[in-house]
Amino acid sequence: MFANHNFLKDPPFSNLDLVSCRNVLIYLDRVAKDRVINTFHFALNPGGFLLLGSSESIDPVSGLFFL
Ligand SMILES: C[S@@+](CC[C@H](N)C(=O)[O-])C[C@H]1O[C@@H](n2cnc3c(N)ncnc32)[C@H](O)[C@@H]1O
Repeated sequence: MFANHNFLKDPPFSNLDLVSCRNVLIYLDRVAKDRVINTFHFALNPGGFLLLGSSESIDPVSGLFFL
């Protein structure tokens, strides 16, 4: 399925095995970034993968993802 999707405004997808979001989080402030990371965590199945750009990272303290 292909769809336009604004991850800051639209209802999140669910039951995904992979979210690829390269070179976007670097442009967000901390609050927006945390919200998006939580949205991605919700959207992914257990064991799913979040693919980020090489300059991006998520806070390991959140405990939401294994790095
Ligand atoms: C710097 S480009 C990176 C494009 C590609 N992922 C790459 O690594 O070459 C940032 C992309 O994020 C998209 N984007 C920005 N804000 C977004 C949002 N809230 N929801 C969905 N996509 C967004 C833009 O449309 C743009 O395509």
